[in-house]
Amino acid sequence: MAAREVKLCLLGDSGVGKSSIVLRFVRDQYKENLESTIGASFMTKRIIVDGNSFVFQIWDTAGQEKYRALAPMYYRGASAAIVVYDVTRESSFPGVKDWINELNKNASGNIVIAIAGNKCDLEDLREVDTKKAKDYALDINAIFTETSALTAVNIQQLFETIARKLPAEDIYRPRHLGVSLGQTHKPEEPEQKKRSCCGGGKKS
Ligand code: GTP
Ligand code: MG
Repeated sequence: MAAREVKLCLLGDSGVGKSSIVLRFVRDQYKENLESTIGASFMTKRIIVDGNSFVFQIWDTAGQEKYRALAPMYYRGASAAIVVYDVTRESSFPGVKDWINELNKNASGNIVIAIAGNKCDLEDLREVDTKKAKDYALDINAIFTETSALTAVNIQQLFETIARKLPAEDIYRPRHLGVSLGQTHKPEEPEQKKRSCCGGGKKS
């Protein structure tokens, strides 16, 4: 089955759990004392969603301020971005808005954006209200979820939701245009029609 390649990057303050989310998604592992990312790290993962195959090319950026200037290298040309904050750290939420503004200015116009409030297993320590974050995400037409890399809650679902929201327009583009733009192989049209519709339906 031909896979659709999806370049995705993770953005957000240092320590919010970006690398932990990637490690859970790609290897189904969790490490208590993960080292802070230097520059960025890269991983890939293939998933099947509604009968369609996607290969996520994941750029996990470093949240430390000194690496901020590198971020455009990873979000430029990306089809999707996950902006992560820590639900137990109010100070990590303003960074979400900064990243969204930057993406709106500089990223591809049809980039799929998701906001993830991570560490939702630590309910007792919660500082960021779910509704506040969800309303903001709704406002900017972003996917919203609360995740836990520790318990794996909503990690797989997050990536599946992103896959479902990817625009179908390049798939519907006339074939000759797709070829001249160097597009990778695309699934046949009937299958895509199913995918772009809510619920998707199983492949017959
Ligand atoms: P930078 O690489 O510095 O940008 O940080 P990061 O966003 O990649 O954070 P990282 O994944 O390294 O996570 C930092 C620490 O937070 C981890 O070592 C874990 O101890 C903790 N952590 C990450 N995700 C979770 C989670 O879902 N729940 C809990 N309780 N702790 C988490
Ligand atoms: Mg990291």
